[in-house]
Amino acid sequence: MKTTIAKLSEHVGEEVTIGAWLRNKRSSGKIAFLQLRDGTGFVQGVVVKSDVPEEVFQTAKNMTQETSLYVTGKVVEDSRSSFGYEIQVSNVEVIHAATDYPITPKEHGTEFLMDNRHLWLRSQKQHAVMKIRNEIIRATYEYFHENGYTKIDPPILTGSSAEGTTELFHTKYFEEEAYLSQSGQLYMEAAAMAFNKVFSFGPTFRAEKSKTRRHLIEFWMIEPEMAFVEHAESLEIQENYISHLVASVLKNCKLDLEILGRDTAKLAKVTAPFPRITYDKAIELLKEKGFDDIEWGEDFGAPHETAIAESFDKPVFITHYPAAIKAFYMKPDPNREDVVLCADLIAPEGYGEIIGGSQRIDDLELMEKRYEEHNLTSDAYNWYLELRKYGSVPHSGFGLGLERTVAWLSGVEHVRETIPFPRLLNRLYP
Ligand code: 4AD
Ligand code: MG
Repeated sequence: MKTTIAKLSEHVGEEVTIGAWLRNKRSSGKIAFLQLRDGTGFVQGVVVKSDVPEEVFQTAKNMTQETSLYVTGKVVEDSRSSFGYEIQVSNVEVIHAATDYPITPKEHGTEFLMDNRHLWLRSQKQHAVMKIRNEIIRATYEYFHENGYTKIDPPILTGSSAEGTTELFHTKYFEEEAYLSQSGQLYMEAAAMAFNKVFSFGPTFRAEKSKTRRHLIEFWMIEPEMAFVEHAESLEIQENYISHLVASVLKNCKLDLEILGRDTAKLAKVTAPFPRITYDKAIELLKEKGFDDIEWGEDFGAPHETAIAESFDKPVFITHYPAAIKAFYMKPDPNREDVVLCADLIAPEGYGEIIGGSQRIDDLELMEKRYEEHNLTSDAYNWYLELRKYGSVPHSGFGLGLERTVAWLSGVEHVRETIPFPRLLNRLYP
């Protein structure tokens, strides 16, 4: 019976065949232990010399790392392995013998592993991180579909910028100039006026010269946008969504979290509601913590965000930033024109800003004023202005950075390990 490692529990006591790769092996004169993987999981195969024909034992014993094979044997429960099963091998059939696989069980440097990313993805930890990424994506669709959102796909090639012009990737669009999308938000606002509650999930691009553990050049964003939703309600949606993601990963990725050595007690505390502090309070808190130089009106860097996060064991919303350091579309606080109805959600444990969101300006005149202040004179923005002309309503939305969320939930240090093929300041290979 042909099956996969993930389904072995359904075949205890039966003889099965799986297509697999050899990760590693140990052998003595009488027994060989094969560490196998098939993409769905990891399992040990045991080949006992006295139980199999001599050529089967010799083949098993001489197989090289990453050789592909069909392995046949009986599935038995094994309480010693964290996976819980083992295969008592009766036959192995080599499909393709690998020679000199570059990633050996010894330690390798990160640059070497990144150069071999196409192979590194096979390793157990990288596999666990990608499974957690996959679960976050699955739980995202689940959350928004269960809550009445329609998925809308904004364009990747655009004629306008959403988040400032300094980080745009320029490209030719026949005779015109085009950019790769920095954010689908502006289009999602149009979609919210047509479908009420919408969300997008897609790649975004930032030509940022940042070389930090939190920055990618190409990253994936989830961008919900809600008509008739104001700032406070948007924060409630955000905390409920994040709580759902954390609960789903804790429930469905137990083995992956264990492989990564993630402290799940810290994640278990992440349930709605989350604390909220204003930007003003955050400045005070930073001064108390010894950041004497920070002045009202300055943006926060990674050390500031980490220091603020340390005061909480859940993600924390920092709200009401100065209008001057935020995007042109954010709605000013009606009680205080110098700050906007926005929030950044800062993850615990130093993972930084995972969500940026705000209530949007819905007043035509104010938006026209912002256009002038920000020099958005191009006709490329006319359509966005028209959303304020034809049945404008209060609306809010936010963007969740997938890779930073994966890094936080997996407990990996750097976002480069949270996307299959990272695009970094000096990396376009593989
Ligand atoms: O804060 P940002 O720039 O917000 C927007 O783009 C809004 N238009 C979203 C919206 O309201 N629809 O980006 C949102 C999130 C950040 O909080 C962060 O998690 C992630 O995207 N992000 C990055 N992740 C990896 N590498 C980068 N260079 C990132 N820049 C932003
Ligand atoms: Mg931001």
